[in-house]
Amino acid sequence: MVGARITVNGKETPVAPDAPHTTVLDFLRERGLTGTKEGCAEGECGACSVLVARPGVNKPTDWVAINACLVPAVALDGQEVVTSEGLATPGAAGTPPALHPVQQEMADRGGSQCGYCTPGFICSMASEYYRPDRCAHEDADGAAGHGADAEHGPNGFDLHSLSGNLCRCTGYRPIRDAAYALDRPAEDDPLARRREQSPPEPVASEYTQGGRTFLRPATLEGALRTLRERPEAVVVAGSTDHGVEVNIRSRRDNCVVAVDRLPELRVLRAESEYVEIGAALTLTEIERRLDGGVPLLDQLFPQFASRLIRNSATLGGNLGTGSPIGDSPPVLLALEASLVLAGADGERTVPLADYFTGYRQSVRRPDELIRAVRIPTPLSRTTAFHKIAKRRFDDISSVAVAFALDIEGGIVRKARIGLGGVAATPIRSLATEAALEGRPWSQETVDEAARVLRGEGTPMSDHRASSLYRSAMLGTSLKKLYAQTTEAVSS
Ligand code: FES
Ligand code: FES
Repeated sequence: MVGARITVNGKETPVAPDAPHTTVLDFLRERGLTGTKEGCAEGECGACSVLVARPGVNKPTDWVAINACLVPAVALDGQEVVTSEGLATPGAAGTPPALHPVQQEMADRGGSQCGYCTPGFICSMASEYYRPDRCAHEDADGAAGHGADAEHGPNGFDLHSLSGNLCRCTGYRPIRDAAYALDRPAEDDPLARRREQSPPEPVASEYTQGGRTFLRPATLEGALRTLRERPEAVVVAGSTDHGVEVNIRSRRDNCVVAVDRLPELRVLRAESEYVEIGAALTLTEIERRLDGGVPLLDQLFPQFASRLIRNSATLGGNLGTGSPIGDSPPVLLALEASLVLAGADGERTVPLADYFTGYRQSVRRPDELIRAVRIPTPLSRTTAFHKIAKRRFDDISSVAVAFALDIEGGIVRKARIGLGGVAATPIRSLATEAALEGRPWSQETVDEAARVLRGEGTPMSDHRASSLYRSAMLGTSLKKLYAQTTEAVSS
């Protein structure tokens, strides 16, 4: 990889890391940009948050906050990064820099005490500050005040944008005050103006050091060829899972292949019989581009890790790891999704219900990639995703249940239920579906079906929950759905 560069705070900076797995966090800190901090090194605290220029949803470019601790520096070859240091405007000789509006509000409202978390908060807050539709609810004359709720400010600021940032000493109220005090970016704000230009193009690259290689193929064909030639290759997209393995478990792979910028994996389109979602679109991109088009996914997104993680994580990655407690599989099982697997000899479509074959195992061959997820339409109208976890956000589920029901004339015509955390793989709840279909949507049916649901899978006991608790939560979940929907169905 000759001449690899990242534009950091407007300056082209050569990338020559010690190893292919050296993170963006270490790369920045080694260059004196020590505002970017390491708290956890596993995507949990947000102290390492930085901004990257990515293809935009409503403008050509979005400023997206990501966890610098999870991404290898070589993965950002040719890209643009802004750190907390780069947000302030340098002052003339002898004068201090002018703070960025986000920094100014944090300072004015007491949003920082020890300061360790502050640069990370600043970058996450700046990403939301520059979100093009943040102020969309304002009146034509610019008056704010509409659309505010418990999780949004009167300026449209979405508090979920800070859900991946932890602060141990300030307390969150002053930070929220700062977020809610932000105005629109000024007309001449350089980062606001940068959104109007095209995002940086992906750069095909190959970096080898100490016998280990990071590879970003230019084309899908090239990626598939590599997978065929190097069956030991590990496929990554946002690195939100692999980065944790690298940092916490010292995982080192001889060949890592990045697929997150392949155009074929970044398509989102609605056909007459399905919605196709590219496997390498981030969850944030899917959420914003679908804009409520698949309501069950809209229930999933806020419960999937944090906004910082969703800014990098992909459906392909969540399915590719094959975790039995991934958040998306129960939802996609309930939606009867299929996966489009691309191989050197063509594509095949596999129902997700047939995809998982064992603990972290699937029918995907090492030389295949998940290209897309297809969700058949029309969608069932009664849907819910219940994630049972210790915390509301940014947590791992003990058990997760997704429902998609067609209820017509008070009768359950069709039931699809996806479960996570109750077996070695995500599973469909077939016995419960059968116990519901053709029956009235009534308390009696639900009580009977809840008994069946409690017996589904083979939940185990571990540090998160006992098997008895997991089984109990399954039954409770169906009763909760009934309580939530009774009124809607009868009206
Ligand atoms: Fe905690 Fe990166 S260091 S999220
Ligand atoms: Fe100390 Fe947030 S200001 S951790």
